[in-house]
Amino acid sequence: MNFIDIIKKKRSGLELTDGEIDFLINGVTSASIPDYQLSAFLMAVCFNSMTAKETAKLTDAMAKSGDILDLSVFGALSADKHSTGGVGDKTTLIVAPIAASLGCKIAKMSGRALGHTGGTVDKLESIPGYKSELTPIEFINQVKDINLAVVGQSGLLAPADKALYALRDVTGTVESPPLIASSIMSKKLAAGAHNIVLDVKVGSGAFMHDIESAKELADMMCDIGKRCGRNVRAALTDMDTPLGYAIGNVLEVKEAIEVLGGRGPDDLREVSITLAGMLVASVRGVSDSEGIELAREALASGTAYKKFVDWIEHQGGDIRYITAPDMFGKATTVLQVVAECDGYIQSLNTELIGLSSTRLGAGRVDKKSKIDPLAGIILKKKTGEKVYPGEIIAELHSSTPELVAEACEIFKSSITYSDSVPERRPLIFEII
Ligand code: URA
Repeated sequence: MNFIDIIKKKRSGLELTDGEIDFLINGVTSASIPDYQLSAFLMAVCFNSMTAKETAKLTDAMAKSGDILDLSVFGALSADKHSTGGVGDKTTLIVAPIAASLGCKIAKMSGRALGHTGGTVDKLESIPGYKSELTPIEFINQVKDINLAVVGQSGLLAPADKALYALRDVTGTVESPPLIASSIMSKKLAAGAHNIVLDVKVGSGAFMHDIESAKELADMMCDIGKRCGRNVRAALTDMDTPLGYAIGNVLEVKEAIEVLGGRGPDDLREVSITLAGMLVASVRGVSDSEGIELAREALASGTAYKKFVDWIEHQGGDIRYITAPDMFGKATTVLQVVAECDGYIQSLNTELIGLSSTRLGAGRVDKKSKIDPLAGIILKKKTGEKVYPGEIIAELHSSTPELVAEACEIFKSSITYSDSVPERRPLIFEII
């Protein structure tokens, strides 16, 4: 087989055979296809897309390019949740213990902060002692014991996706629905769970800015799951404003503890209950509304909170920080951002808020950056709220005072004011 023929075939908009896709992925994994040919191929996909059959085959081949986690010991009880990335999105910290307390087996590999979005593993590691690396045996045994373990993503998972993603990043070929869907799903397939719930974010802080493209991506990922023998569901949820009020690692852990304790912001609680309910529905074979009701009860009764404490303790975390979150302390610099005019907050550009938080030290500006666990933003006002001049809109937290001025400028540029109350967006657009 000759890769030039495969490029030409995709350039002509023709469907590749399974053998041609295997040839492509073997060539990526063994680095035998040069980057310039792969780049030409990726651009041809951007222009001519891929059929559902090709996309599923590409995903399967990428998933099989590295380690595949064997969760067969948990049968149809294994469950995983994935977010396409957001700002203030700490739902995994809430969804995982709710679902685990209701019998789902959650053996989860999570990512780190990327660009303007946060990462679950960075949040968990802000709890002193939490171990995000377990041996495979420790990982599986913990799930056997308490239904729940969350570790960092292994570098050996879907290496073909890793190589292709790095190339897409520098060749203007990230924004192709089949390439995004296959990239995300290859890692989910390799992570082994039978039941998968995808939280596809929509809005200014998300990868997908409009509902149509978010739905196209969600449908594609569900179809891949079906073709590859997994039970995949998706929820389209709002990311046009941060989820909850806290952005940044410790700040988000504290907000998640509030929700688990029966308090906390309504939007965060409702999205978490919906995603957990969908997982429970998949695993127990009940309707979404029954799953959501069970999730609501697990939160209200405190069983989800107990599961959370158990989980953190099993992974070495110091649970005194969970029972007394003030122990986390505070960043040395806290700057208040105040409203500059009288009016309503028309919109908060959520990508800019994420970038402001990253600038404060909550995320990484390059691979080597060290995260400041206490850095981040506490919103005091959100989209749609009335503000008066001088009223506090947000607090910016950082342990590096010289970063705060630039982060403040970025934060201020995220806000648009208006004279009238803006239209309210739904929190959950659709469940697929
Ligand atoms: N996240 C991924 O893992 N892959 C993509 O292509 C986009 C987002």
